[in-house]
Amino acid sequence: MNILTFDSDDKLNEAGAGIITGVVQTNKRAVLGLATGGTPVGLYKHVVSDFNRGMFSFKNVTTFNLDEYIGLPDEHPESYRSYMRQHLFDHIDIPLSQAHIPNGNAPDPKAECARFDEMIEDAGQIDLQLLGLGHNGHIGFNEPAHALIRGTHVVDLAEETRQANARFFDSIEQVPSQAITMGVGTILKAKMILLVVKGADKADIVQRALQGPITTDCPASLLQTHPHLVVLLDRTAAEKL
Ligand code: GLP
Repeated sequence: MNILTFDSDDKLNEAGAGIITGVVQTNKRAVLGLATGGTPVGLYKHVVSDFNRGMFSFKNVTTFNLDEYIGLPDEHPESYRSYMRQHLFDHIDIPLSQAHIPNGNAPDPKAECARFDEMIEDAGQIDLQLLGLGHNGHIGFNEPAHALIRGTHVVDLAEETRQANARFFDSIEQVPSQAITMGVGTILKAKMILLVVKGADKADIVQRALQGPITTDCPASLLQTHPHLVVLLDRTAAEKL
């Protein structure tokens, strides 16, 4: 595992964006796994400005997002579909038909999960999977549990996850209670994983995830088993390591 710590948020975002754009520059047909949440917003901004310099294209890139809420209309500002358009897809040249996000409004969510896994399978290996980290150690929406599920599945969100995400909604009642998430097995199959964590409120969970026991009680601890894990931390998130 390669851990890099940054004093400046901008430098961290620049480094993260550089890793993503590096993958796309070396492989025009790269397959990227993307994440949402507050953490990668600044990083996507840098990807967009790198793209605007005209050095590379996303025309042949395929992306898979980690997760999506169940039951939010696509055009809801807090759906991950809206998030991705707002922060990345509307500013680069990726055809939306190649930018895959689980459909949280599918009439049969189980069938949607199977469809999503099939698409990932058909695309071959994910070259780079970007991840944030939940306060309880969740990755994507894989919450702490006795057993973790390998493939894409429907998940009941933990109360603390709904509370953490309530800041994006008018009230906690509006935060959906279920989501579709890529499974930990799929995440771990990526060639390279880029975990990005910011903030003192994540210092404890960063320590547990990266140095604690490998346990399903902290899904991110499974990342310790990955052969090519790069972790970008700001100074405060790294303070318990
Ligand atoms: C959210 C997302 C995760 C994200 C995590 C941390 O609920 N499902 O993919 O990494 O929680 O979010 P944030 O970056 O806003 O702290």
